[in-house]
Amino acid sequence: MDIRDVPEAHVDRAMELVYLVFHDNPEEEQRKHHRELVLQCERIGAYDGDTLVGFLAAHRFTLSVPGGELPCPGLTFVSVAPTHRRRGVLSAMIAELFRRGTRQGRPLAALWASEDAIYGRFGFGPAMECLSVEIDSRRPLALRIAPDERPLRLIDPADAPSVVGPYFDATRAARAGRIARDAERWRGEWLAEEAEEDDELSPPRIVALGDTDEEIAGYAVYRTKSGNDDTGTPGLVRVDELEADDAAAAAALWRYVASIDLTGTVRAWGRPLDDPLLLFAADRDQVRVTGGFPGLWVRLVDVRAALTGRAWAAPVDLVLDVRDQHIPANTGRHRLTATQEAGSYEPTGDAPDLTLDVRDLAACYLGGTEVRRLVRAGLVAEHTRGAAARLDAALRTELLPNSGDEF
Ligand SMILES: CC(C)(COP(=O)(O)OP(=O)(O)OC[C@H]1O[C@@H](n2cnc3c(N)ncnc32)[C@H](O)[C@@H]1OP(=O)(O)O)[C@@H](O)C(=O)NCCC(=O)NCCS
Repeated sequence: MDIRDVPEAHVDRAMELVYLVFHDNPEEEQRKHHRELVLQCERIGAYDGDTLVGFLAAHRFTLSVPGGELPCPGLTFVSVAPTHRRRGVLSAMIAELFRRGTRQGRPLAALWASEDAIYGRFGFGPAMECLSVEIDSRRPLALRIAPDERPLRLIDPADAPSVVGPYFDATRAARAGRIARDAERWRGEWLAEEAEEDDELSPPRIVALGDTDEEIAGYAVYRTKSGNDDTGTPGLVRVDELEADDAAAAAALWRYVASIDLTGTVRAWGRPLDDPLLLFAADRDQVRVTGGFPGLWVRLVDVRAALTGRAWAAPVDLVLDVRDQHIPANTGRHRLTATQEAGSYEPTGDAPDLTLDVRDLAACYLGGTEVRRLVRAGLVAEHTRGAAARLDAALRTELLPNSGDEF
């Protein structure tokens, strides 16, 4: 098997492989969109002779990490021909991606898993927990706090990248796990006229809170769907994104989406675990968490660069013994020394305070999983009492990591 770049001339073949393995047969418009996306991506293929039997694409993303951001390929369209499965084709393509990452100074990689069982073995860890939330909006949303009463305005989706884009960038810096969005990504992924998964949904609507375009205190991107009188299904508001400065602004936006006429259900997906809605909702029978799932999976391709590329909430000085079956350079004992200003991570012969697999370090990296929980689960070995708690204090972030930007 030959692992190499997939040239532009082979992109149609690659997409046929993708549609084959995902049992998909999209409309022409959708195919065009996929093709444009893949042309922007890094592309790795596995060739058996001249036949393309494996493919993966990687978006050239920038991911927010605590206190900064890092380049982070986002794996997508991962496909191996059914005739060539379980022969190490995926493993070989991922190994190539990691080699390039190390060489080209991209310390992270990330993905959304279609099956959770696949990626842990490659060192990816679930870096956040996301929630699905449903509001029964047949009655007014009951709130324990007073919503911000500034005006709400509908924004033309064509103007969204310039009007709410800068606001999104600010929220991105405040919460780890978020992907930078240029106007193209806004338009292609967030503001597409038709929702990919449900053609009965309306085009995207954008509502912003605040007196002028310059003074936005929050916004929501949502789509609606008519109810069905025959089945008694109420109209739906699907909230794709809702960001706000503070609880009062968030309450105003939730109250707005829950009060749209001819709808009786609000569904939001990919919400953060620390969403204030779950606390300021007065009636938790009305606002229910209907599901939880790991959102973004993260891989520390270069542990040293990843750890020294984030900020720390508290000083720490610990020896970590990291196991990495795929990237030998990450393996072994290193001393992590960090202050709030900077961190260093250097090889050492000293006895370890903690022994852990690189996938578990990835799960903790953005502040979404506590090391202590992994110790209690038997996944991390604590050799020095209190070491896990000290690492947790340093990894802690004000807001929990979150992204609803599935790719
Ligand atoms: C998932 C897929 C890419 C795996 O490709 P592959 O070339 O068969 O994978 P590999 O042979 O490199 O497998 C490596 C390891 O992962 C395991 N593995 C692969 N797919 C798995 C799955 N779906 N569930 C659990 N384990 C899986 C293999 O058993 C193997 O383990 P081993 O090393 O202990 O034997 C391929 O089956 C496929 O294209 N599936 C349909 C599309 C898909 O699900 N893509 C992933 C989207 S996120």
